[in-house]
Amino acid sequence: MQPDSSFDNALAALQDCLGRQGNFVVLTGAGVSKESGIPTFRDAQTGLWANYRAEDLATREGFLNNPQMVWDWYDFRRNKVWDAQPNPGHVALAKMEVLFSRFTLITQNIDNLHQRAGSKQVLELHGNIFRYKCLEQNHPVSLDLLENPDASPPTCPVCNSYVRPDVVWFGEMLPEIILSQAFDAASSADVMLIAGTSGVVQPAASIPAAAKEAGATVFEINPEMSALTSFMVDYFLQGTSGTILHQLLTALQANPRVKTL
Ligand code: OAD
Repeated sequence: MQPDSSFDNALAALQDCLGRQGNFVVLTGAGVSKESGIPTFRDAQTGLWANYRAEDLATREGFLNNPQMVWDWYDFRRNKVWDAQPNPGHVALAKMEVLFSRFTLITQNIDNLHQRAGSKQVLELHGNIFRYKCLEQNHPVSLDLLENPDASPPTCPVCNSYVRPDVVWFGEMLPEIILSQAFDAASSADVMLIAGTSGVVQPAASIPAAAKEAGATVFEINPEMSALTSFMVDYFLQGTSGTILHQLLTALQANPRVKTL
């Protein structure tokens, strides 16, 4: 199947689907944070971590083998994200959440940039780098309440096991409730917008398929085709999400048929 790559056609279809109080569901990946200076997963590791693979660091085994190295890697990524700013793509999605009465944002990203841009309801499939839990019993941990916050890594005040970031590591299950909320939203979507994901990691990559099966019109924003484009995308908007999401928002805001809360 060859998607329609005309911006005007995509915009007309988007306004038509949403003008009827449509249910607007969005799935984002690392590409939407690229314009905030955060490297995507399939980019090479940057700087001092260039000799390591995310697959070796973002795993339970990797953490158990070298807790301090993995803890320091997440500290490095957290500081990089903290110094970054949400880009116009994050801001546009936060404004769309207010513009449409039925809007669900699902993200694979752990960088909290959607929330910093103002998105209130974010289904985080892979967790959040600014949240912590303990390794053995998933006790939520707040670093500022710990006696040993500067340890690398600290230990849980309840069970004394290592503290780890509250993110999904390779080989781990995704948070069940979040995942079922994401598939529920997709299964009742009128519009499924995919932005900034290669579409190669499951189960996230199956969410657009659930929307498609439910009759949604599928839109994709990416500078290049992803693993999903030729299988399920109706409208492919080639380019960067910061630019295209802002363009879509501007056009939707100008459309009197689009309900404003
Ligand atoms: P990837 O790095 O796999 O893909 C990033 C996508 O963003 C690619 O398709 C790029 O073409 C696209 N892209 C790059 N710059 C862009 C821009 N400015 N605007 C829009 N798109 C752009 O990242 P993800 O698909 O998010 O999982 O990876 C999914 C998961 O794989 C991650 O969440 C992570 C990793 O394993 C876990 O950590 C569990």
